[in-house]
Amino acid sequence: MKVTNMKKIVTLLLAVVMMFSLAACSSKSSLPSSETKTPTIGAMPSDPANSPDKSATDTGTNNGSRILVAYFSATGHTAQIAEYAADILGADLYEIKAKQPYSEADLAYYTDGRCDKEQADPGVRPEIDGKVGNMEQYDTVLIGHPIWYGQAPRIISTFLESYNFANKTLVTFCTSGSSGLGSSASNLYGLVPSSVKWLESRRFAIGSSKDEVAAWLTDIGLEEDPEVNEMKIQITTGGKTMTATLSNNASAAAFYKLLNNGPVTVEMRDYGGFEKVGPLGTSIVRTDGSITAKPGDIILYQGDQVTIYYGTNTWDFTLLGRIDGASEESMRSFLGDGDPTVTFKIPE
Ligand SMILES: Cc1cc2nc3c(=O)[nH]c(=O)nc-3n(C[C@H](O)[C@H](O)[C@H](O)COP(=O)(O)O)c2cc1C
Repeated sequence: MKVTNMKKIVTLLLAVVMMFSLAACSSKSSLPSSETKTPTIGAMPSDPANSPDKSATDTGTNNGSRILVAYFSATGHTAQIAEYAADILGADLYEIKAKQPYSEADLAYYTDGRCDKEQADPGVRPEIDGKVGNMEQYDTVLIGHPIWYGQAPRIISTFLESYNFANKTLVTFCTSGSSGLGSSASNLYGLVPSSVKWLESRRFAIGSSKDEVAAWLTDIGLEEDPEVNEMKIQITTGGKTMTATLSNNASAAAFYKLLNNGPVTVEMRDYGGFEKVGPLGTSIVRTDGSITAKPGDIILYQGDQVTIYYGTNTWDFTLLGRIDGASEESMRSFLGDGDPTVTFKIPE
């Protein structure tokens, strides 16, 4: 190749790279604030007294999910997508941190700096600080990363080679300034046992919304299926809390989604000597049918009101779920005589 052509190509590459830098910088300030309720599994403390298993299970950050969202993010864009995904799936969240963190200088493109060197050599394995101590708990692992020169950062290779992923389901997702997914996902397939089931990866533009993440998770069949996974919620009033299991219908799924955005508090009033009822503050899809509601039943009435039963009543409405282990006596004592303020939430 002629030197002049070479120069042209280098200049072009630099221009593209500057575009990425600008996109990365300008969108950083507009990153949505972290709204996830999903706890992060902390990196393993380097203190040898803390075994890996202990750190992952004893920190109180493991919510018992079978799905893990692991991500590496140098400037926060991928972190946001990972938080959305973990929140939607009720999954555990783990940040892959480099033992030697990436400085601004390391991240600078085409400076022959650290990133340039690492990405130029597919054999490089940057060390990870910490470990998922309970990887055997997960049957599905989502792995998020930025695109660096069209590929996953080499630390993702380190991550994939650090665990036995045999027979697990894996899927990658990434953020980039403008590049597509390219070969970034398929180039990782050879790093894990062939028994791994790979789902279809997705590249997200910087600042993609939670809805876009949810749509992708549904597309690849990962969004929790109410038929398989029980939807548990907590109901609190007067300082007392009970748990409930939601029904397997579209209304219950919509109610659960609503609670995914945060707790919902309903000002209820006593009605008919058998229920407490109040406005949900929004409408959700109805799947009404004739039901005889009994103590502990959570009912959607006319699509925008929620009731909790302590007695019985037959009407056309939707069963959202049932308070676990409820009896008339326990419901009367839980709800009290008056007009209770009741908060519904998804357990932490
Ligand atoms: C070393 C390096 C190389 C990059 N290479 C590309 C690239 O090839 N294509 C692209 O569209 N963006 C590229 N970018 C931009 C990042 O992919 C983008 O800003 C990404 O959202 C960063 O994710 P993070 O904030 O989670 O680290 C690169 C960024 C860095 C630091």
